[in-house]
Amino acid sequence: MAKQKRVSDLKRRKRKTVKPDQGKRNFLTVFSAFIGSIIGIAIAFPVIGFIFHPLIKKTVYGGSDFINIAKSKAIKPGIPKKVVISSFKVDGWNRYDNIILGAAWLIKQENGEIVAKSSICPHLGCGIDWDAGEGQFVCPCHKSIFDIDGKVVSGPAPRPMDSLDIKIEDGDVFVKHRKLRLATHKVIEV
Ligand code: FES
Repeated sequence: MAKQKRVSDLKRRKRKTVKPDQGKRNFLTVFSAFIGSIIGIAIAFPVIGFIFHPLIKKTVYGGSDFINIAKSKAIKPGIPKKVVISSFKVDGWNRYDNIILGAAWLIKQENGEIVAKSSICPHLGCGIDWDAGEGQFVCPCHKSIFDIDGKVVSGPAPRPMDSLDIKIEDGDVFVKHRKLRLATHKVIEV
């Protein structure tokens, strides 16, 4: 009987001494799991963001800013110069450079000022050419004719050639690309 009591006392004492360690172990287990979860989320978040990036991000075109398209000294008075407007496009994960957005006619006036006109015919969108012999712009599709300032001389074009914003910095010519509605008298951005 006394032996049994001693054994049970011993067990009780053992339980008492084990309990604090067990609690500490439980705490450490929970704490490790918590830290592990935080690290897991921290790693997963950018990965998930990267996977879903094309769905979240809009396609961005560089054409909304001024684009460097020519050297001002390359434009002679009375001789319009056609230049390509190109920029970059960011679509999902990809960046594409030198995307052609359109073209512009650069015209140096008598006072040295340079103006930029869209090469897109405001009638139905064909490309406008310069007829050096006649000294006027011509649209080959339906024969709209514009003078050197872009005003309509004849043909179905409902408005003059569209002007583009322009700036000159350190001899470089910058223009802003525009997308405009066709076949309207008013200039409407699209
Ligand atoms: S598209 Fe230019 S005149 Fe019709």
